[in-house]
Amino acid sequence: MQTELTFSPIAEIETELLAVLAADSQTAKGAEAKPAPILLTEDDAVKTAAAALLASGEYKAGVNETVLLHAPAGLKAKRLLIVGLGKLAKVKPQGVRNAAGTAVRFTKPRAIKELALALPESELLPPGPCVTAAVQGAIIGDFDADTYKSDRKDVSVARFRLAAPESAGKSSLQAAFAEGVIVGESQNLTRSLVNEPGNKLTPTILGQRATVMAQSVGLHWDVYSTDKLHELKMGAFWAVSQGSAEPPALIVLRYEPEGAPEGPVLGLVGKGITFDTGGISIKPSDSMEKMKYDMAGGAAMIGAMRAIALLKPKVQVIAVVCAAENMPDGKAYKPGDVETAMPIAPNKPGKTIEIINTDAEGRLVLADGLTYARSLGATHLIDAATLTGAIGVALGLVNAGAFSNDDATFAKFEEALKLSGEKFWRMPLGDEYADQIKSDIGDIKNTGGRHGGACTAAEFLHVFAEDTPWIHLDIAGLAWIDDARPYIAKGPSGVAVRSIVEWVRSYQA
Ligand code: BES
Ligand code: MN
Ligand code: ZN
Repeated sequence: MQTELTFSPIAEIETELLAVLAADSQTAKGAEAKPAPILLTEDDAVKTAAAALLASGEYKAGVNETVLLHAPAGLKAKRLLIVGLGKLAKVKPQGVRNAAGTAVRFTKPRAIKELALALPESELLPPGPCVTAAVQGAIIGDFDADTYKSDRKDVSVARFRLAAPESAGKSSLQAAFAEGVIVGESQNLTRSLVNEPGNKLTPTILGQRATVMAQSVGLHWDVYSTDKLHELKMGAFWAVSQGSAEPPALIVLRYEPEGAPEGPVLGLVGKGITFDTGGISIKPSDSMEKMKYDMAGGAAMIGAMRAIALLKPKVQVIAVVCAAENMPDGKAYKPGDVETAMPIAPNKPGKTIEIINTDAEGRLVLADGLTYARSLGATHLIDAATLTGAIGVALGLVNAGAFSNDDATFAKFEEALKLSGEKFWRMPLGDEYADQIKSDIGDIKNTGGRHGGACTAAEFLHVFAEDTPWIHLDIAGLAWIDDARPYIAKGPSGVAVRSIVEWVRSYQA
């Protein structure tokens, strides 16, 4: 999709479809309080064209509610689409992001190839963040997951224009727009990786895809495999890998901008299980096909690194993606096995892990990934993983889970959420959860029983992050969308990319 920011008056834009946003200005509550939709534009021609519709009471400007007018009088656009933001008092840039996505997804199936969106004008909506959000939403809305249909008709929108009033400050809006494009396209890169089936995206191929990305944006990269895991004594990562005919991939991406201070060094660690059968503790076949998305955390880090390389914040970043396939096999690791994780220093012993369930494999690959990122100099860590089904039980499919051992680091993440518009809910760590994963035979075991499954999994990772400031994102519930929304297709969501990018940017010197 080609994207463009324009400062033309919206009535003058020649387009197949002009989208404008509306909100419900009714503040009274109760049965008597009828919706009072208003358009968020100062343009008189647009207001006139929509006046009869808004007065009719048929359109309420509900969240992502759409209505289409053909041949609107007084406009050069052939169609006028109105997209609702819901209650005016509650409008936020995140609503604009979704409304832009809704406009694109309205346009797509009608084979309309091009549209323009008027940036909403309201003192409640800061222009810069709304420009970023709108173009992100449009790019995200253009993605569909049907890449392997043999008769796939490409109904992608070819051109998206965002029309902003010049008074809002041309050059700052242009910068905000360019940032939005970078982050939106990076989120779609993540989604396209997550969408790939396990046979088309093995750990090796994920490594190749990361390499292509790194070369295209000028990141340093290394992709290692079995020998390196042995050299580094990554016993936990190798345990998961050993049951597959596909070799593992240890993907390292480095962003070292000129002029960045020596510290902090941010370490991004992603779970890259390209398919999770559960291993010997095999999963039921019901929905097992979904476990191709068990590399969504790793893919989020690859997408985030692309955005970081293009946005160029002055801060050092290292990403480590631990990619493997979790398979049952004659060589597979088994319940009862004891594995030794990577030591943090050559003169220190690695922690020993008793395997209770081979389906709790994500925490094993991440254990060595976290240690490796620290050994490469990371001073602050963030990991993302489709780690537990339990996080979906705890938080539903609404919020993803976030854990942290450091309030200051987490505060920066919460600031990042305000910009990304993503929903993460802080979950607890604690000694009681840590007690649940003590092992009789070794240091820790890889499951802590049924209760608090997301928290005991996080405490497992905490053993390897130790005191390094660290955030753990459990995205198992949100990485795949089962039901399409007006603004985003069914399939991979690309969750966490935007928040990780904003968190990284918050550290720039
Ligand atoms: N990849 C799964 C978690 C998952 C579940 C992701 C549903 C996406 C949707 C993970 O490897 C897993 O199998 N976790 C187990 C842990 C258990 C064995 C302690 C789980 O959640 O059941
Ligand atoms: Mn598993
Ligand atoms: Zn898994």
